[in-house]
Amino acid sequence: MAKDAVRVLVTGAAGQIGYALVPMIARGVMLGPDQPVILHMLDIPPAAEALSGVKMELIDAAFPLLKGVVATTNVVEACTGVNIAVMVGGFPRKEGMERKDVMSKNVSIYKEQASALEKHAAANCKVLVVANPANTNALILKEFAPSIPAKNVTCLTRLDHNRALGQISERLNMQVSDVKNVIIWGNHSSTQYPDVNHATVTTQAGEKSVRELIANDTWLNGEFITIVQQRGAAIIKARKLSSALSAASAACDHICDWVLGTPKGTWVSMGVYSDGSYGIPAGLIYSFPVTCEKGEWSIVQGLKIDEFSRAKMDATANELIEEKSLAYSCLS
Ligand code: NAD
Ligand code: LMR
Repeated sequence: MAKDAVRVLVTGAAGQIGYALVPMIARGVMLGPDQPVILHMLDIPPAAEALSGVKMELIDAAFPLLKGVVATTNVVEACTGVNIAVMVGGFPRKEGMERKDVMSKNVSIYKEQASALEKHAAANCKVLVVANPANTNALILKEFAPSIPAKNVTCLTRLDHNRALGQISERLNMQVSDVKNVIIWGNHSSTQYPDVNHATVTTQAGEKSVRELIANDTWLNGEFITIVQQRGAAIIKARKLSSALSAASAACDHICDWVLGTPKGTWVSMGVYSDGSYGIPAGLIYSFPVTCEKGEWSIVQGLKIDEFSRAKMDATANELIEEKSLAYSCLS
């Protein structure tokens, strides 16, 4: 019997990530090749015409899994009945703007959209925040939608995780699909800590640790970390636009693993509501290694943390504490 369609909201759908993301969702990349979807696309009035063009293209692509498209600038209409919400919409930093100005615009948007999701989304709606500052936008959304379980509100650090996998596979000249269990700790910002201490690679001689195969601590503890931390900026420099296809693909990976489960023995990185694990203060949206089963994520427990990692994990936590207080000061 055919499955019921899942309603997936994409905010900021007329933007560049939205344009890359909606066809992936409609093709089954996010929820699987047998899962029909109804796309809800939200953008703001100045982007309404562009949004209607995206809707036309979705119809023209004749995706078999796509059972309907709602394209709107009305936040209530957009949020009504959605099972999954991918929050990409936001206010970009413009020339001359301070960090606080961008934060102020975005946390106001996320506060408003939190209320709409809380009132109108389907019960147990899963939320993924992509728009920057992703962790803090997600935290504000969670705080202003108290009836949405904290476990249902996450932010995207899977792009950073995939970037780390990509760098290791390039360095070893091996398939990226053979590398696993890197970790992104903390904020989706340049303070994030990409950690390879538990990462492994499948080789013809069996599973080997990344530290054994790349016996170069100077690179692993230095350049590798910086490349991953600065990759977003490098793409902006090269494209004059921020990452879009890789961000859209990572958003699909994040939801796919969350809903359908992570493979046995593999974890992924997700920005989730911290519970004090690994000494990270509770009440932040912080990126941890997680496994997923039956639609629920769990933080991987018991990993050994050395002094080098501890300092980097705490530094990115401290940045999130500062962002949280800045966000609240913008709302007061
Ligand atoms: P974009 O400017 O091309 O698109 C953003 C869209 O959001 C625009 O169409 C805009 O009209 C819309 N928008 C603005 N305010 C809105 C609101 N209140 N409601 C609904 N829509 C609204 O930007 P983009 O390149 O698609 O990037 C989107 C966001 O994702 C940015 O904040 C970017 O920094 C962030 N990003 C995050 C990651 C990550 O890994 N977490 C990666 C790349 C980009
Ligand atoms: C990215 O990681 O590519 C983006 O978050 C960069 C940005 O500032 O939009």
